[in-house]
Amino acid sequence: MSLISDIPVLDDLDAPRASTVRATGEIQVYLETYGCQMNVSDSEIVASILKENGYGLTGRLEDADVILINTCAIRENAEQKVRRRLAEVRAHKRHNRPDLKIGVLGCMAERLRENLLEQEKLVDLVVGPDAYRDLPRLLGETADTGQAVVNVQLSREETYDDITPIRYDSNGISAFVSIMRGCDNMCSFCVVPFTRGRERSRSITSILDECTSLVDEGYREVTVLGQNVNSYRFRQNGTAVDFPELIHRISLVSDDLRVRYSTSHPKDCSDDLLNVHRERANVCNYIHLPVQHGNTDMLKRMRRTYSRDEYLGLVERARKIVPGIALSTDIIAGFCAETEEEHQDTLSLMREVRYDQAYMFMYSERPDTYAARKFKDDVPEVVKKRRLSEIIALQSQISLQNNKKEIGREHTVLVEGPSRRSNDQLSGRTDTNKMVVFDRRALKKGDYVRVRVHDCTSATLRAEVVDG
Ligand code: 5AD
Ligand code: SF4
Repeated sequence: MSLISDIPVLDDLDAPRASTVRATGEIQVYLETYGCQMNVSDSEIVASILKENGYGLTGRLEDADVILINTCAIRENAEQKVRRRLAEVRAHKRHNRPDLKIGVLGCMAERLRENLLEQEKLVDLVVGPDAYRDLPRLLGETADTGQAVVNVQLSREETYDDITPIRYDSNGISAFVSIMRGCDNMCSFCVVPFTRGRERSRSITSILDECTSLVDEGYREVTVLGQNVNSYRFRQNGTAVDFPELIHRISLVSDDLRVRYSTSHPKDCSDDLLNVHRERANVCNYIHLPVQHGNTDMLKRMRRTYSRDEYLGLVERARKIVPGIALSTDIIAGFCAETEEEHQDTLSLMREVRYDQAYMFMYSERPDTYAARKFKDDVPEVVKKRRLSEIIALQSQISLQNNKKEIGREHTVLVEGPSRRSNDQLSGRTDTNKMVVFDRRALKKGDYVRVRVHDCTSATLRAEVVDG
């Protein structure tokens, strides 16, 4: 993934997550997840479906009777990474476990369908993101017949709302809660509407029930997930609940529960939503607001439905309604026919907004998208790379400057666990989603602690605990 290494990652494709608990069960499944938070959340649903049907989960690939890889298709390099992993898994099957079953789940399964069986010999299952309920049947069928099986049916209704996810890789403090699936936006560069289908919202009752159970289990933070969360809309008893209302209702589950969400589309970020941020102390003062580009013509070609000025107007509105709100974004470098001046507009927008964090990517053409059909992927690779590195360097500078302004300020941090470098130190995030490291003292995971910042890098704040 093209991303500066010391900026925290939202969807770190380079770090697959493996199933870590070993439950008892006749057939052991090893589940590995690539891609975005939505995939992590989907794997928790898959784990639940499998366990309900008598399968065990193992964190050791060597012990597995079934290996499932939950895949990402958003950029070519994400797919290449999965293919490399599949080659390793196939070698393991050939040399050690001829009876092993290998399954490909998620977006790559949906994009490539039966072709995947041709391309990746020895794959036994191909299962799309709306077909996970069918996994036990499919596993049974391939075990019985020895034939490869495929279900890539997309659904207009499936939200898995009755399934309690097994959060096998969680810190016990922060959880993902999926609220909607699919995307109807059709941004011209994006494969997601093809791999995840049409938008549909999960029932508000099942979302609130899940959040209440999480609080009872000791969780202190939920990140509400969807491809396009602001489109959430659920009709109940003749009235429709929209996204601001949903966030408000989740925030009432417990004052000790922090509420975040991802990903939102700037076109639907309403004043109602911003007011919920202002009024509810536990709705975090942070929004991920992907701009993608700083030039209005490019935004048109990207089919983002807002102009540069409209986006800047939204940022101004957000900062007026919620003073101190932190903003992060996604940016694509080198999209079709991008000129040097258009690229400069991205840099100038970044200087104007001064994001706290950014996730930055080189454009990667995806088959069948509007851009692939209508435009030429004509910015040379070296130019794309250079533009991306200018964007990354600028963001790194801005993140550092923003963090330096934090020195001397106090924040309330939710303790997430030991810091990466030392067991004597803990880490957690501010309300504004900044990572903070501080002395352990008698603190534990799940505590809220008041800290004062004394030092920083572009990615992390260092702080001391404020006594009393
Ligand atoms: N090439 C590069 N980046 C992409 N994204 C989506 N599709 C592509 C693509 N074809 C980025 C967008 C999106 C983020 C999740 O991934 O910035 O917001
Ligand atoms: Fe892709 Fe655009 Fe939908 Fe995001 S909003 S998933 S970028 S089509």
